[in-house]
Amino acid sequence: MKHLVSISDADIPHLLSSAHCIENTFINYKFNKILTNLFYEPSTRTSSSFASAMYKLGGKVISINDVNYSSVAKGENLEDTIRTMGTFCDAIVLRSRTAGEAARAAFVSEVPVINAGDGNGEHPTQTLADLYTIHKEFGRLDNLTVTFVGDIENGRTVHSLDKALPDCEKNFIDTFDKSIWPASDVYYLTRVQKERGSEGSYRMRKEHIKHIPEHAIVMHPFPRNEEIPTWFDNDPRARYFQQMRNGLIMRMAVLADIFSNEK
Ligand code: NCD
Repeated sequence: MKHLVSISDADIPHLLSSAHCIENTFINYKFNKILTNLFYEPSTRTSSSFASAMYKLGGKVISINDVNYSSVAKGENLEDTIRTMGTFCDAIVLRSRTAGEAARAAFVSEVPVINAGDGNGEHPTQTLADLYTIHKEFGRLDNLTVTFVGDIENGRTVHSLDKALPDCEKNFIDTFDKSIWPASDVYYLTRVQKERGSEGSYRMRKEHIKHIPEHAIVMHPFPRNEEIPTWFDNDPRARYFQQMRNGLIMRMAVLADIFSNEK
């Protein structure tokens, strides 16, 4: 229990920054907004965390989580679907099958479009969650060594994170190999994108883990296949479950920003 009897009881720097956040999120934020989750590919974390973020901010969600039950199954093109949903809602979260589709949607949309992954293109909100995770850990986003292990070519989370970390040293390990990974601050593993034609598998083995520095963190956007053994989940270097939680918080930040009264 925390009493606030004297000003000496207050953590002033914390409350100043907390007040600033609350002002931006809850005071300037326009309530009663409706978000459409329009997903042409499967999703657990991204669609649910956007929905949860919207509900936590006091908004509502229209979910089209399986386009096969929408007019897409009748041959409707992306532009028409976007224009249609834009007349019913205030922003659209779009996950699409082909790189460039989010930009195509944004071009015709009357409401903001948030790219929730476009084929093997980008996945900006996952990257924002990743950056938040890295920043919480190291207090900076530069002068870090980041090793990406997995599907570099088709992993959209890798593409966006790579773009967002211009001032870090980066290693890319995209072949199945048993060798030791380079010493790093961050290890970012990804799944093989079989649905985009990638093959093979990546596994973090005991001999890799032995060489991961104690201060380092292991991240994965999930879903995982066999990249990280479940027995590693309790290792103090595992950060993938925190990454999900950070995804929710960051999506609240993104939505609050989009719906801010100041815009
Ligand atoms: C990723 C995606 O959809 O790109 N998932 C996610 O949103 N966290 C990663 C993946 O599917 O491999």
